[in-house]
Amino acid sequence: MWSSFPLFPEQASTIAGRVDALYYYLLSVSGFFILLIFSLILYFAIKYRRRAEGEQPPQISANLPLEVTWIIIPFILVMVMFGWGASLYFTAFSPPADALEIFVVGKQWMWKVQHPDGRREIDELHVPLGYPVKLTITSQDVIHSFYIPAFRIKMDAVPGRYTSAWFEASKTGTFHLFCAEYCGTAHAGMGGRVVVMKPSEYEQWLRTGAPQESLAAAGGRLFQQLGCSGCHSPSSIVRAPLLDGIYGKPVPLQSGQVVLADESYIRDSILLPQKDVAAGYAPVMPSFQGRISEEDLLQIITYIRFLGDEGGEPRKTTR
Ligand code: CUA
Repeated sequence: MWSSFPLFPEQASTIAGRVDALYYYLLSVSGFFILLIFSLILYFAIKYRRRAEGEQPPQISANLPLEVTWIIIPFILVMVMFGWGASLYFTAFSPPADALEIFVVGKQWMWKVQHPDGRREIDELHVPLGYPVKLTITSQDVIHSFYIPAFRIKMDAVPGRYTSAWFEASKTGTFHLFCAEYCGTAHAGMGGRVVVMKPSEYEQWLRTGAPQESLAAAGGRLFQQLGCSGCHSPSSIVRAPLLDGIYGKPVPLQSGQVVLADESYIRDSILLPQKDVAAGYAPVMPSFQGRISEEDLLQIITYIRFLGDEGGEPRKTTR
């Protein structure tokens, strides 16, 4: 009977069971205290009702054992919530280093997905079973929220910023994908499906459709076309930082601060070049704000990321 009326979405990721277990714990603790408190209210209301006009209850000053009990027990219960929740949070927000990276751009009203090999899709996300997948998410207009109930993941897509989420699918099949943040007229229609495939089928799926250049290759082409390579190359006249191997390294700024060259830093350097000028360089880089789409930006970032790596190409998409 309950299978035809599911209270919870399917559990289709490695973390889903753990999220549900914590949720059941929260539910049972809350449920237990709701029952306890309401029964006691009822019981005491009857037991200690006023029986005569002018009746005065006896004054009670303190009861140490009782007070210690109702401090210790709730303390333990909430510390379990805290410890359990924190440990789950760290798992849920620390993608493994070898995760397959997929880019997601939300826009009114669709989800645009780019795989590292260049395969693209809209309102669909194909992923391999049993591999950690890291999503880098952004929006090109308003705030959206990327939500896969069966994986128990939900992450905001915020314009001007990269957010990320990761999961490892534990079941093949097709699952719902939603936008979970009201984003305008067609918000309710901004959904799709996630298809979890066996790794070999995923590999095959990546190769179907028109052959595409990889994200890094597309980014390299844009790097030339937009004129980035004119300054960011060893032979250029304008002195601009060389970008080989910069990804993931600390960058000293003119302001004396040191920032990490991650996706967000590279993104800001392209769109808001005056914001964080690298130490020792003149602030001469033009802004590319409004001249480059979110997807192109992700391609350039992928290109820069693998600059200086052997071959300048991302590693294989699956292990
Ligand atoms: Cu996009 Cu709601």
